[in-house]
Amino acid sequence: MADAKKSTGIHIKGIGKYVPEMIATNEDFAKIVDTSDEWITQRTGIKTRHITNGEPTYYIGAQAAKNAIADAGIDVSDIDLIITATVTPDFYTPSTACLIQREIGAIGSMAIDINCACTGFDYGIDMAKRYLQSEDGVDTVLLVASEELSKFVDYTDRSSCILFGDGSAAFVLERQYDTLYSSFLGADGTGAKYLVSRAMRSENAFRTNKEDFDMGMPETKKHYFTQDGREVYKFATKALPNAVEKACEKAGISPDELDAIVPHQANVRIIETAAKNLGVSMDKMVVYIDRYGNTSSASIPIAFCDAVAEGKIKRGDKICLVGFGGGLTYAAVIFEY
Ligand code: UT7
Repeated sequence: MADAKKSTGIHIKGIGKYVPEMIATNEDFAKIVDTSDEWITQRTGIKTRHITNGEPTYYIGAQAAKNAIADAGIDVSDIDLIITATVTPDFYTPSTACLIQREIGAIGSMAIDINCACTGFDYGIDMAKRYLQSEDGVDTVLLVASEELSKFVDYTDRSSCILFGDGSAAFVLERQYDTLYSSFLGADGTGAKYLVSRAMRSENAFRTNKEDFDMGMPETKKHYFTQDGREVYKFATKALPNAVEKACEKAGISPDELDAIVPHQANVRIIETAAKNLGVSMDKMVVYIDRYGNTSSASIPIAFCDAVAEGKIKRGDKICLVGFGGGLTYAAVIFEY
């Protein structure tokens, strides 16, 4: 392998996470749907997930943001741009980023939401990197992933409700010259129908056509989330290793040279299959799905925070964050922590 390619990339100055206090165990789910701890553990690797007791997405995100800002040791006035990744905003408008900005007091910064489902944090890092690289007044970026998935989970559907949890995590990012950075991002909209939560319309007094446009999407109950689990599983087991390989190629390293791979935490079996396909040991894969379940865009940075806290990821390590999710989207970013 050639030497790793160095370019302008990111420096992670601070990190922070936040999960709501309430924990739902597999046994708790067995009381509300026809399931068992054995089935959930064997098929997904999940044991517990944190679920909000009413704290909205923007509030959860602001707590993680405050923790990351404290860890970075910066003043909120230093923040030039807030990017928030979420699929569960509290409002169509204002954006979650604007509400987080209000909560933390970073008034005057740019603020924007992105929706790339579970790959949102990867896309957010790449977007932050490109703003930082432009050297056009953005020197500090606050990237927050925040999800209150419990607001669209259908708690009567045993095949999906057991998977998801709520939580958030944030990074404070700065520009770094002459460092390792690469990304591989993509999407395949033909798979849009496999992971769906519908935005609800209000009654339109002028509309005479009561038929909905055939959007080629599944019928759903209200705004509730629905998925084709098997199709997503098939997609994920291919997309995940492919994204890591492509990002490694661009960085001029092999997957084996990575110190840690932090995958989207959706199902431990997906992660095991990806590790096998990549030819890397499971020790390299950062897995905390047992604690948090799938927290969509927040799952990768929450796992990253726990890995740092537990000494599994250290400064100087070569890291790959890799995600897949609704859209369908896929993404991998590689950097030196
Ligand atoms: O962020 C991305 C989000 N989505 C994903 O990553 C989803 C990817 N897919 C998956 O992780 C898996 O497909 C699931 C965990 C969703 C399902 O696991 P599976 O091994 O693919 O199960 P299955 O859908 O093939 O169902 C097997 C059986 C079915 O029963 P029958 O038809 O064989 O009698 C299901 O009805 O398991 C049943 N089942 C359950 N049984 C107990 C489905 N959910 C449950 C449950 N408890 N919670």
